Amino acid sequence: MRVLLGEDADLSAVYAAPDQPWLRVNMVSTVDGAATGEDGTSRSINNGVDKVVFDLLRELSDAVVVGAGTVRIEGYAVGRKPLVVVSRTGSVPPTQRSARSGQVLMATVSTAPHLEEARSLLGGENVLVLGSHRVDLARMKDELVLRGFRHLLSEGGPHLLRDLLDQGVVDELDTTVVPRMISGSHRRITDGPPVDAPLRLATLVEEDGTLLARWFVEQ
Ligand SMILES: NC(=O)c1ccc[n+]([C@@H]2O[C@H](COP(=O)([O-])OP(=O)(O)OC[C@H]3O[C@@H](n4cnc5c(N)ncnc54)[C@H](OP(=O)(O)O)[C@@H]3O)[C@@H](O)[C@H]2O)c1
Repeated sequence: MRVLLGEDADLSAVYAAPDQPWLRVNMVSTVDGAATGEDGTSRSINNGVDKVVFDLLRELSDAVVVGAGTVRIEGYAVGRKPLVVVSRTGSVPPTQRSARSGQVLMATVSTAPHLEEARSLLGGENVLVLGSHRVDLARMKDELVLRGFRHLLSEGGPHLLRDLLDQGVVDELDTTVVPRMISGSHRRITDGPPVDAPLRLATLVEEDGTLLARWFVEQ
């Protein structure tokens, strides 16, 4: 384990992904564990240091995997990297409906009520049907790797992170802890039934009191 102070850390080297299929999840919280702030999104708790790592991890990824809830609540815009929206209902979030073909993919199930609509909005080849009632997230990773997306970044949200851990799909978890306490009732970085995922700390970077940790999930 390496502990580095921000000014000594070459973040591109710290966060370099191994040369193999790799899925990492990046999440931010306060010291008292809040994953959202007063506006109900992570925007009201993140800070400049977190943004640097957030942008870097996107840059290093081939595609970004996000739960439909987060895309809807945070109003994700169409980005430079392909976005893979995970959804049980198959409902394409409004901000992603006019994306160019291939910019947005959806991982969903055969019983999704909005499956046909998703196919017509995104193109059939961009809608991955990965189970009947539950999205098989391991198959999702395999399918995305087959399509050339070897380095995957998930930006949550809490339900998706919990399910990715439960299905043994996460290789790495990157957490930012911002130096704030906000109390109140806020979600944590995971939500849903219990999981138990042992982690090994690979790197800890401190910058202006913000703690950037790179954890590997013990498989
Ligand atoms: N602190 C952070 O780093 C961070 C990161 C991301 C999000 N957030 C915050 O978290 C909140 C959203 O939380 P959330 O738990 O609702 O987010 P989420 O996991 O992104 O959204 C849940 C929705 O995503 C889809 N989904 C998630 N997991 C799925 C799975 N395994 N299979 C199929 N569909 C799946 C479903 O969409 P359908 O309803 O379409 O089926 C589900 O209703 C927001 O306030 C956001 O700002 C914080």
